[in-house]
Amino acid sequence: MRLAPRLVRALGIALAPFALLGIAHAQGFGERIGERIVCFWPDSAARDLAVRAPALFPFLPAPGAPAERGTDFAVRPEFRMQGGGRVVHIETPRGTTLYGTGEVPGGLVRNGRLSVCWNTDAYGYDANSPSLYQSHPWVLAVRPDGSSFGVIAATPGRVTIDLTHGIEFRAQGPVFPVVVIDRPSPQDVVRALADLTGKMPLPPRWAIGFQQCRYSYAPDSEVVRIAREFRARGLPCDVLWMDIDYMDGHKPFTFDPRGFPHPGTLSDTLHARGFKSVWILDPGIKQEPGDFMYESGLHGGHWVTMPDGTPFWGKVWPGGCNFPDFTRAATRAWWSASVLAFAQRSGADGIWNDMNEPAVFEAAGKSMPETAWHRADESLGGAGYHARYHNVYGMLMARASWEGLKARGPERRPFVLSRANFMGGQRWAAAWTGDNRATAGHLAMALPMVLNLGLSGQPFAGPDIGGYAGPIAGEDFAAWMGLGTLLPFSRAHTEKGGIRKEPWSFGPKVEALCRRALQTRYRLLPYLYTVFEEASRTGLPVARPAFFADPAAEWLREVEHEFLIGGDVLVDLRFRPEWKEAKRLSDDPSAWRAATVIPGEPSEALPDLSVRAGAIVPLGPIMNFSGERPLDDVELLVAPDAAGHAEGWLYEDAGDGYGYTRGEFRRTHLVAETHGRTVRVRVDRSEGTWTPPGERKWRVTLLGGQKGAVVEAPAGR
Ligand code: GLC
Repeated sequence: MRLAPRLVRALGIALAPFALLGIAHAQGFGERIGERIVCFWPDSAARDLAVRAPALFPFLPAPGAPAERGTDFAVRPEFRMQGGGRVVHIETPRGTTLYGTGEVPGGLVRNGRLSVCWNTDAYGYDANSPSLYQSHPWVLAVRPDGSSFGVIAATPGRVTIDLTHGIEFRAQGPVFPVVVIDRPSPQDVVRALADLTGKMPLPPRWAIGFQQCRYSYAPDSEVVRIAREFRARGLPCDVLWMDIDYMDGHKPFTFDPRGFPHPGTLSDTLHARGFKSVWILDPGIKQEPGDFMYESGLHGGHWVTMPDGTPFWGKVWPGGCNFPDFTRAATRAWWSASVLAFAQRSGADGIWNDMNEPAVFEAAGKSMPETAWHRADESLGGAGYHARYHNVYGMLMARASWEGLKARGPERRPFVLSRANFMGGQRWAAAWTGDNRATAGHLAMALPMVLNLGLSGQPFAGPDIGGYAGPIAGEDFAAWMGLGTLLPFSRAHTEKGGIRKEPWSFGPKVEALCRRALQTRYRLLPYLYTVFEEASRTGLPVARPAFFADPAAEWLREVEHEFLIGGDVLVDLRFRPEWKEAKRLSDDPSAWRAATVIPGEPSEALPDLSVRAGAIVPLGPIMNFSGERPLDDVELLVAPDAAGHAEGWLYEDAGDGYGYTRGEFRRTHLVAETHGRTVRVRVDRSEGTWTPPGERKWRVTLLGGQKGAVVEAPAGR
């Protein structure tokens, strides 16, 4: 009986502290693990006996290590058993606003909400769906004074996060600790979360360009036609996506011999037009003798099994499938090698991992049974039921895909998009918010979802622009594009058999709005890349909630009609009628200066932008794709503060590869000062050894400031 010792251990810990002490509640045992970071256990026995998973929670102290008691902590989790399950409750001061909890539908503020961490194939979800595709057992709490704390429930298992009265985590199964970070501001807490759970690596620059997808562009000539349309119409775009119809019978790692006979040639054609390509790979491998992935998976012993050791079988797109057990390093290495070979053959620049909750058709809970068996590595907690590994399956798959692309060599940064993921998974994959709908409700949810993912450690996220499911009217598509082109991950996508959702599909008026939205993103790319680099270094989100501008301001806590890109650009949305008259940060022109990035008729479909007074924001020229030409012409939006001062940063590097980790980048600090009527903008200093190719022309556009000011732009590179 291989289950016995683990089960006894888990159950023993489950009951011992409470039974022995004869109490229903326990004030946790707190141990300091970082600067104002305390790990709480129900008691010290639990701390030393619990199952460890250093690969999932590297920040937890090893059992037996001397504990440094955390005493003076305002946040005191209370542990209790209830109905056979574990409950951790944390009181929150009156007026505390709650955020985070990862990929959750509905609004930005999470007070009063209940969600369940359980990765779920949630096609067409709604504002109250308890579980979507990803799990982040994490809550960010902002107190009335703007100080903040955050709580991680350090378990991969199913957890209910109940925010109807304070913060409560409820879970079945083995004991788990909670980690509390208590810092002066929400920004500090989010940074600390990233220090614990990991940071998004800097993506290749092309991955922050606009991307176009459909289920599916097929055959290959259709992909080329879409590429040609983008270029002929002057609509900027960096990436085209291959959905499952490029495959032979939807079998991952194969190519349809008729539709995609020469995938490498297709990629070459796209590359010649300045497009990258991302190709989908799902986990289910068709149980088909003769299929090379099936044969090598079978002979390598790579499948998830049932407790009796027979491979688990379930239906997905290709038909009856087996599923790789990504909890094993050996299986991940096999998958990585397959991804590398696939990328070399197809010319794929990036990989899209889908259906990795894992989704299983015609199955209870649309997934594999909780009793399926993983032979997981000890670093994940050792062999165990699927119930324990369900929420990390997608993350481990994304990791294996990322490692496969990484093996291409140091000239290229991997790009992976994953539907399922777990807290910490930002280290390997960007996120999209799954199969949303083309409705006003989903358009309204898109921003809060991306913001809460950012507040949960995942800065690289976006929705299916235009909505995955269902048709849409042209003006609504323009509103999706207006918002979606300002979100970190920017991709239009739609389901099979539905209407076309390319920027030109709704006639010339909508196309013109889409062009403006796309051009706005490409103008902002130098700034956006600077913000991505900051996110990769600090863990701060790319898209930030308006309350980041002033965490103590109560009215900002619920604002969903404005958000920040980095710290200096404010985006103002007006596509909902009730937002037209709403109070906004941008109402104060002494704090936020309206900026015009693309000239043209204002439209309510497209957001307005402003720059923080005191900031300098670098803009680039409009390009068809991010690498079309060097950044030769930089326009600086300079918004002097009351003292006539402004400053900002521009981060640049080769846009791909790892030279930047050896100092081959340029981080330029720009400063503007006002002397009399003259505003002088200069390069204060630059860091790094990388030299931008070509000439550089700096231009300055003054936002606000003195009337009749004379502007001096920086000289040289
Ligand atoms: C899933 C994905 C969707 C994709 C489809 C076909 O539903 O969420 O984006 O188009 O599968 O691969």
